[in-house]
Amino acid sequence: MFSGFLTESIVARAAKKGACEIAITDLREFGEGRWRKVDDKPYGGGPGMLMKCGPWFAAVESCLSRRGDGAGRPARVVMTDPKGKRFTQRDAEALAAEDHIVFMCGHYEGFDARIETLATDRYSVGDFVMTGGEIAAAAMADAVVRLLPGVLGGGPAATSAESFGASGLLEAPQYTNPPEFRGMKVPEVLLSGNHRKIEEWKAMQARLLTEKERPDLV
Ligand SMILES: C[S@@+](CC[C@H](N)C(=O)[O-])C[C@H]1O[C@@H](n2cnc3c(N)ncnc32)[C@H](O)[C@@H]1O
Repeated sequence: MFSGFLTESIVARAAKKGACEIAITDLREFGEGRWRKVDDKPYGGGPGMLMKCGPWFAAVESCLSRRGDGAGRPARVVMTDPKGKRFTQRDAEALAAEDHIVFMCGHYEGFDARIETLATDRYSVGDFVMTGGEIAAAAMADAVVRLLPGVLGGGPAATSAESFGASGLLEAPQYTNPPEFRGMKVPEVLLSGNHRKIEEWKAMQARLLTEKERPDLV
């Protein structure tokens, strides 16, 4: 699930540059018995299989001890969970200030409820259900890593002027060459070279777009 994410992405480049370190832990290594079992039937019946406490506690404890927790700030342990808080840019900013984050990727019917006690945070990436937590963890890790110093060319300005950035609004429409394509023209003001007017236009467009698409953010 993570191979492309960790080899062909800005996250991969960030890791190569030493801006972050990413390690994958296979839950199956902590599975129980001959078949390394990590799941079982839910008490009280119901469809599907639930992930068991034993392997999860052992796996998270191993992640925490491997990093030598106590050397820096205590680790954040993020459970991927459609029932969790909706993950936002503010959460990405908060996680980017941490030293160590463990993402827990669920599968099957989800986690035994006691596994939640391992987590400092439970995040959902949207109101839909996926088969596993890997894509959610990769999405959150990507949002966090691009905020780390030295990862994006433009520095903090590259991210603070974006959607959900310092203003909390959506980003204004942007254009590049050519100035006209199939009858669609780049707004005159962007070609004017008048930086004050360009900034005013962008602020107005960001406001209008946000009111139209995401009035909840205004
Ligand atoms: C099939 S889901 C379990 C759904 C669970 N039975 C429920 O109804 O809430 C399996 C796992 O995928 C991950 N997952 C699925 N959708 C997610 C979402 N929207 N955000 C974050 N994680 C998600 C979680 O780790 C979850 O435990």
